[in-house]
Amino acid sequence: MARRRIIAGNWKMNKTPSEAVALCAELKDLVVNDAVDVVYCVPAIDIVPVAEAVKGTNVHVGAENFYIEDKGAFTGEISAPMLKEAGVEYVIIGHSERRDIFGENDILINAKVKKAFASGLTPILCCGESLALRKAGTYKEWIKRQIEWDLTDVTADQVKTLVIAYEPIWAIGTGETATADQAQEVCKMIRETIAEMYDAATAEAVRIQYGGSMNAGNAAELLAKEDIDGGLIGGASLKPDFGKIVNA
Ligand code: 13P
Repeated sequence: MARRRIIAGNWKMNKTPSEAVALCAELKDLVVNDAVDVVYCVPAIDIVPVAEAVKGTNVHVGAENFYIEDKGAFTGEISAPMLKEAGVEYVIIGHSERRDIFGENDILINAKVKKAFASGLTPILCCGESLALRKAGTYKEWIKRQIEWDLTDVTADQVKTLVIAYEPIWAIGTGETATADQAQEVCKMIRETIAEMYDAATAEAVRIQYGGSMNAGNAAELLAKEDIDGGLIGGASLKPDFGKIVNA
């Protein structure tokens, strides 16, 4: 498999600046792996100290969110130029928590994907179904539509560098992981969707992560699947276990 594995932590709303620096120090020697891209997506206030703390290591810095304008009257928001100057390379877009708790829709998510690319940030675009859709059996159609909406007017060259995270909502923070076969089924379908929308070379290049209760115990089996190129890890990214996932 030519695609480079990418293991990203999504710290969510955890760690004060001093706690963030302490976690970087705790994980420093555990997350060394030259064959893997390692990313910490951290709360906005932690970005500057984390970027400083990981300087000279193999760890890349990511943000969890941003807004599509460069500057102006957008109280509480943070812009792509701000992230870039602070050393951010990746940004999570369309996480189910942003969609469900903060009401982000696919029009905004698509605008964020385009803005991230235009700003030199690599999106980690999240998609995934609720338990109701999983039970109804319509989850694949739903996820396909999310991908089509969220990548409207995004070019093939951009998609070649994109990271997509498949995160079934029912598996996030619940301890209930999708089985490796369930995760592979959807990641394969996402790659086929990219092939339909673009071409085979783009589908072959795009990196697809699984996220949802991934941990040191189940990572190796999930990551062994053909269409799973990495993980987006919540809870276990805040612990030494994250090093085991990086080296799974
Ligand atoms: P957990 O690993 O805590 O289930 O979270 C997954 C997630 O939402 C990563 O973005």
